[in-house]
Amino acid sequence: MPELAEKSAQVVALLQKIAADYAPAVFANSLGAEDMVLTDLIWRNAIDIEIFSLDTGRLPGETYDVMAAAEKHYGRKLTVFFPQHAEVEAFIRSSGINGFYDSIEARKACCHARKVEPLKRALTGRRAWVTGLRASQAATRGELDVIAFDAGNGLHKISPLADWSEEEVWGYLRANGVPYNALHDKAYPSIGCAPCTRAIQPGEDVRAGRWWWETPETKECGLHMVDGRLQRIKAS
Ligand code: ADX
Ligand code: SF4
Repeated sequence: MPELAEKSAQVVALLQKIAADYAPAVFANSLGAEDMVLTDLIWRNAIDIEIFSLDTGRLPGETYDVMAAAEKHYGRKLTVFFPQHAEVEAFIRSSGINGFYDSIEARKACCHARKVEPLKRALTGRRAWVTGLRASQAATRGELDVIAFDAGNGLHKISPLADWSEEEVWGYLRANGVPYNALHDKAYPSIGCAPCTRAIQPGEDVRAGRWWWETPETKECGLHMVDGRLQRIKAS
């Protein structure tokens, strides 16, 4: 796939520019398919961007397996951020261990404690963060820019795979022998926490298995704001 080689080279050039112009930059790695493409490009090209993952404490076993497999494959270590125990304990006391099923507010409170607060710590002192978001992933992501200013977190947000298709992601992973989450082979195109992710049926949207009891418009956990606080920057 010559176009894929060209697109991959463009992503490497962008990541190198981000590492140089926005140091220190970090990459938020969920270990999903898109993020494994970026992991491979960053680590194989020795780009100076630290890679971190948010361990919510509720991730599927397969996600821990691919974390370990990636560290072994590349001989590198991921930086892992955990939630603050007091916020998680308060959530469980008020809402119950699986209270996120009971209301959108409770679900967002759990995501805040387990993802949003640790993300804020992970981004402190950084000038840019890289994500594996793609525009075609969800109704909430159609307007995605490659480079935006994330005013909520006060730094640039870079989505190098914004215009990649699902086929291109998988073409890259297979061509380069990149480790990936075993759940992807069991009809899980998008993977988050275990209790909030399920397999999709043929023909369903790729994010249909995430928070499946909610409507598509609410299905963001707060890592990626959808209320206009991302300021668009025209790519030059
Ligand atoms: S989510 O907002 O619905 O959970 P999704 O799973 O699509 O997000 O992932 C989108 C991007 O958010 C990933 O490419 C990654 O940059 C970041 N992200 C999501 N979950 C994590 C995580 N557990 N650790 C680090 N980054 C994450
Ligand atoms: Fe909590 Fe579910 Fe959000 Fe994970 S995805 S932080 S378990 S509500």
